[in-house]
Amino acid sequence: MHRPSVNWGRHSARRYSFRRSAASFTATLALVAVLAIDHTAATVYAAQPLGSMVLNDGVPLTIAHRGAPAEAPENTIPAFEAALASGAEVLELDLRMTADEQVVVFHDELLDRTTDGSGPIADRTLAELRVLDAGSWYGSAWQGTSIPTFDEVLPLLQRSDVRALIELKGLWTVDALRPIIAGIYRHGVQDRVVLASFELPTLLELWREAPSLPRAVIVRRLPDDPVDFAASVGATTVVTSLRSFRVDPDAAEMLQNAGLTVIVYTLNRADLWQQAVDLGVDGVVTDAPRRLASVHAEAVRGS
Ligand code: G3P
Ligand code: CA
Repeated sequence: MHRPSVNWGRHSARRYSFRRSAASFTATLALVAVLAIDHTAATVYAAQPLGSMVLNDGVPLTIAHRGAPAEAPENTIPAFEAALASGAEVLELDLRMTADEQVVVFHDELLDRTTDGSGPIADRTLAELRVLDAGSWYGSAWQGTSIPTFDEVLPLLQRSDVRALIELKGLWTVDALRPIIAGIYRHGVQDRVVLASFELPTLLELWREAPSLPRAVIVRRLPDDPVDFAASVGATTVVTSLRSFRVDPDAAEMLQNAGLTVIVYTLNRADLWQQAVDLGVDGVVTDAPRRLASVHAEAVRGS
């Protein structure tokens, strides 16, 4: 199969930069208007940690999906360390709650695929999870790797300058969200994180409980009016599939003109990365952050 080479030349970068400048100007006007009429609404637009990280050279952020699963078992400390070393600007990770209400970093509802345990993770206490092996399924070199708690990953964020897209899997009550919010502030990373979810009730709970923490809505297919959709849950970032933009090629620009950050997930091939760049999105979620970051660096050098 023929795949076009990745060649993000000057034209692409300039078009992108111009679009971002115009979008920033529009977003600033919108912010001034919002500030003038509604303080509560203004908090929605107060911080855009992913958007503000858009590289001047016109390439999207590299967002390391579950760490760097091309290099280490997903959502584990080795995967996050590999992601930090890869040059990715953003770590993506998934949070779930244990039976004794501890917050752990884990993707699936079930333990079966990525550990030597089985059944729903939500039925196990943290002590029960601690003895599971979350590395051997990936390779013998990772035998004995455990499921990390959120509190164990926060210091990693704290001692680097990386940003984080923190996804809340499933539905969360305000009580369950409080330790997550507290941990973010305790580690002083509140200006570098975005809390994300597919679940609209969870985003609304977050909005009520921690309005200053930016939120991202994740949606497989964009609805007809994505700007209103994002606003309805107080999201400043929209995470969606590339397919959403095949259906509606103007949607990315429409969202950005409204001041929203646009992220696509999860792309692992150079031809798809190029499509994302051509769309002018702000970030690309990938399992192979080292490869994407080096392709980006190459594109910047060549522009
Ligand atoms: O960043 C969005 C993406 O992580 C959502 O999909 O299933 O990999 O968590 P999933
Ligand atoms: Ca995720």
